[in-house]
Amino acid sequence: MASEIICLGIESTAHTFGIGIASSENGVLVDVKSVYKPPFGAGIHPREAAQHHCEEAPSVLNQALKEFSRKIDSVDAVAFSMGPGLGPALRTGATVARALATWLNKPLVPVHHAIAHIELASLLTGAKDPLVILVSGGHTTITAYADRRWRVFGETEDITLGNLLDVFARESSLPSPGGPAVESLAKKGGKFIDLPYVVKGNDVSFSGLLTAAKKKLQMNCDLKDLCHSLQEVAFSMVAETSERALAFTEKKEVLLVGGVAANERLQQMISEIACEHNASFYVVPKRYSGDCGAQIAWTALLVYRSGIEIKVEKSYVKPKWRLDQVAIPWRDE
Ligand SMILES: Nc1ncnc2c1ncn2[C@@H]1O[C@H](COP(=O)(O)OP(=O)(O)O)[C@@H](O)[C@H]1O
Ligand SMILES: [Mg+2]
Repeated sequence: MASEIICLGIESTAHTFGIGIASSENGVLVDVKSVYKPPFGAGIHPREAAQHHCEEAPSVLNQALKEFSRKIDSVDAVAFSMGPGLGPALRTGATVARALATWLNKPLVPVHHAIAHIELASLLTGAKDPLVILVSGGHTTITAYADRRWRVFGETEDITLGNLLDVFARESSLPSPGGPAVESLAKKGGKFIDLPYVVKGNDVSFSGLLTAAKKKLQMNCDLKDLCHSLQEVAFSMVAETSERALAFTEKKEVLLVGGVAANERLQQMISEIACEHNASFYVVPKRYSGDCGAQIAWTALLVYRSGIEIKVEKSYVKPKWRLDQVAIPWRDE
């Protein structure tokens, strides 16, 4: 049996400061996080998120090491989410990772946040070669692996699906994060309110939909019906483009990941298109759908075992790093 490798991973791309520890033999061992909540009515300010991460990092790290219950020097590598994300928030996690790696004299491993969502979900669901639908506050991307890269088959042309739900919720005085609040109201609504459906080629565009939904709010449309209609239109756009990508790639598995993957109506729509195409449907367990350190720690094992690490002095964060720019040496062809 190969000897066990252990990675500690730090997530800090946006709202979450998280530390996970994962083992090549036993998967996720530890996952601790603290989530920044913006003041009521406001979005995430990058400086405020970074300040939150600075303040929370010591207690999250202490708790993670307590739960690890082994000596800290049994960690073989320290990893961090190098991008994409909010610059100040990313730099906070990177600074903690650099300090830890230097102090422990262990390699520093760069991890791409979106790939980390996909890899942990693959581990937990058993999906091997899926069409991935990644929907969160940072991404709306339909992707599949081919020839050492994740290839993008469709994405948003403007704001993300998570952003659409969060901003609409904010405008409606619903609590943050907006996705769960919109979901629970949508379950109580039923009347369909007409909203613009915008698919261009295999990409989606949500900004006009957001503007139209905000206008309907000002017209005093029922909020439950509006939440229901917003979900129906936005999720149908994602389902249509996902179905085309599925027909094109002929993948036999569909994997739904990212914070918005927790939404039951979206899960239902995507499982229906998977079923139509005789593909198995997988969704990331809710516990790990949002950002967390476990995603970074597990993916770091794959990256590190492929021989990839980065020198501290070269470990700049990459706020705009695209997932199709990352070479993936560890996946089977
Ligand atoms: N039940 C839900 N329905 C719809 N959206 C949800 C639900 N739960 C969380 N979300 C959304 O997921 C997004 C956060 O995704 P996450 O992957 O944690 O962060 P990031 O986008 O920073 O990577 C937010 O936009 C949030 O509103
Ligand atoms: Mg995320």
